[in-house]
Amino acid sequence: MLQAASIRQEPKGKPYRLIDCTVDASVRAAASAARTGADARFRTVTDPPGNAAQMTQRELFVTTALPYANGALHIGHIMEYIQADIWVRFQRLRGHNVHFVCADDAHGAPIMIAAEKAGMTPQQFVAAIAAARKPYLDGFLLGFDHWHSTESPENTELSQDIYRRLRVAGLIAIRTIEQFYDPVKQMFLPDRYIRGECPHCGAKDQYGDACEVCGSVYGPTELKNPTSTLSGAVPELRTSEHYFFRLSDERCRQFLREWIQGGRLQPEVANKAREWLDGDSGLADWDISRDAPYFGIPIPDAPGKFFYVWLDAPIGYLAALKAYCTHRGIDFEGVLRNPHTEQIHFIGKDIIYFHTLFWPAMLHFAGKPYKVPDRVYVHGFITVSGEKMSKSRGTGIDPLQYLKLGMNPEWLRYYIAAKLNAHVEDIDFHPDDFLQRVNSDLIGKYVNIASRAANFVTRYFEGSVAEVDADGEWLALAPAAVDAEIAGAYEAREFGKVVRLAMAFADQLNRQFDASRPWELAKDPAGREALLRICSRCLRGFQYLTLWLKPILPELAKEVEEFLGCAKMRWKGGLSPVKRIRPYRHLMERVTPGQLDALFEPPAASPEVATAGTAGAGASATPPPPSQPVAAAPGQSLPPAISIDEFARIDLRIARIVAAEEVDGSDKLLRLTLDVGEAQPRSVFAGIKAGYKPEQLVGKLTVVVANLAPRKMKFGLSEGMVLAASHADSKAHPGIYLLEPHPGARPGMQVK
Ligand code: MSP
Ligand code: ZN
Repeated sequence: MLQAASIRQEPKGKPYRLIDCTVDASVRAAASAARTGADARFRTVTDPPGNAAQMTQRELFVTTALPYANGALHIGHIMEYIQADIWVRFQRLRGHNVHFVCADDAHGAPIMIAAEKAGMTPQQFVAAIAAARKPYLDGFLLGFDHWHSTESPENTELSQDIYRRLRVAGLIAIRTIEQFYDPVKQMFLPDRYIRGECPHCGAKDQYGDACEVCGSVYGPTELKNPTSTLSGAVPELRTSEHYFFRLSDERCRQFLREWIQGGRLQPEVANKAREWLDGDSGLADWDISRDAPYFGIPIPDAPGKFFYVWLDAPIGYLAALKAYCTHRGIDFEGVLRNPHTEQIHFIGKDIIYFHTLFWPAMLHFAGKPYKVPDRVYVHGFITVSGEKMSKSRGTGIDPLQYLKLGMNPEWLRYYIAAKLNAHVEDIDFHPDDFLQRVNSDLIGKYVNIASRAANFVTRYFEGSVAEVDADGEWLALAPAAVDAEIAGAYEAREFGKVVRLAMAFADQLNRQFDASRPWELAKDPAGREALLRICSRCLRGFQYLTLWLKPILPELAKEVEEFLGCAKMRWKGGLSPVKRIRPYRHLMERVTPGQLDALFEPPAASPEVATAGTAGAGASATPPPPSQPVAAAPGQSLPPAISIDEFARIDLRIARIVAAEEVDGSDKLLRLTLDVGEAQPRSVFAGIKAGYKPEQLVGKLTVVVANLAPRKMKFGLSEGMVLAASHADSKAHPGIYLLEPHPGARPGMQVK
């Protein structure tokens, strides 16, 4: 592991402003206010909304986690943004002032290496990723004020400033450590790029941190016969000076203990953070530097040293705010210094550590104008049909594909809202459940009221609506009470509760409507007055529902405002009356099962792959149609020639089969777990059951099409395709033969 050869403190007393290193007064005041509930910023989630604190305008600075700039946004990102966006829209409807920003997390070794592979500079690479964000953000109605990048002048300036202040506070230490160095790539190697034999059981080809065979944990320097996965070279141990943030300093522990208790965190998150802080191993100092070459921000006064990506990533929140403020003529420092500003981060459960330990400590000890986060709101993960998704490759649902199919973004917003609560719980996207919730609840209950009532009003009363008697006297669930409860649920991020309350109210309207038998009232001229009353009441109820669902369904709410001819609805000072409605047009279509099928369908196989003579997910599940050329085989003519560029688009890699198993319910497929030299193994379904028993395959090397779009199959997600040979006429000539490289090939190597 890291070996500290020498420890040296940074000289103190540099000419920077000295800051108070004890817990600053505002934090203490806020924390005690949180306990007494006296301060608007720390109202607990159970406080009734509409109280005095709610009346004053809140100043909110809200962020979502910065996605790595190494790939497209996946459904997990979209879920996080939808959660935050709903909360932000609610706050805005209440009249509060919100700055809502995000950015790309651009730095780090993996992005640098990916850029090199793509033949681009890291700057070009992350710019290309950034350029592709807009369709996702617009498509799912995500109302960020600004989307920035950690590769930006603002972030460089802020990161260097915060670092300098930490140095002045005596919290930076320099230590010499020993680390693996790749003499071919001429760089120090991050652990994930080193493989070798397990020091405990001798298993070959293990990662630098843990053995997948015996489960033991070790440091990369303990591996036997290590190699660099970047060049295949044998890495050398070299020493280098690293910079550490001295989290083990008693001041940090003391501050963090207080910060964690301060009512800012969900109870389960606070427990976790406390465990890390006070657990057996305690908080270790944090290595914040990396050696050149590294895509990152230079460390001041330290030539060749860069900040580790996780140091500058959260500072990217501030950089995004700053760029936004500059653009809008807002005083950035003023926002931070304002004692009423609430700084709120929405994040997923995998990055709690960074946001509840490093980040608040950095901010606190950097001093004013920086302020510590007021809240960190942590959500669980989204799975699709019960399957976890891989961080790098996403799931069977591609958000852009969803939009391209013409599926309504508000369906997804509604569905995700219906599943979310304030806890760190995973949620599942299940297609049948999705169809049911959208069609039966959203359309069958909510939209339906408008269409039923409007038809009568248009037909018999030329669209004129009666002024209804005091709202809600005719309802068991009065709007005023529901309103307060729903507002409280939004504030607490209990969106599932919001949806349940709204649907219960919609049920009630539908019941009242049916009970007054409007179709009979319509037949009898004497019944017209009663008919107008029930329809008007239902439309008023529908107006309330629309306000309550507006944070989730902003576009639909706009259409409803037009349809009802009422002013733009705000969650303040009551709703304007509905006087005359426009003729009813469909407000929202239903989801069709066909759309969901198409959402889970794999993208059409590219012609190159269809002709490549393959076995695996693609080939076995959907054989190419007869009109297409089939696999070349003895006695068969070759398909049309392709160019070298066309071939180069296929990324073939060596894979080790680490596990193989039969698939319940399939007589063709085996499920293979493949090590392709990546951080996580891949799961691939291959149509090779006829040729192999699973146990014959374990440990063998083969070739995989590594850049094939992942595809959701009946049995799970397939993340690639293995190559095998077979006769074009496999009926007449059965037999399937997996490709295997000559000895010496290693997982992750490219096949060209
Ligand atoms: N770049 C870091 C965050 C830096 S924040 C200063 C990172 N990026 S990420 O792209 O991997 O993840 C971004 C966010 O998406 C995180 O909050 C993460 O928890 C969230 N999600 C990633 N997969 C997810 C699901 N399957 N479901 C829900 N959210 C998930 O981490
Ligand atoms: Zn082992």
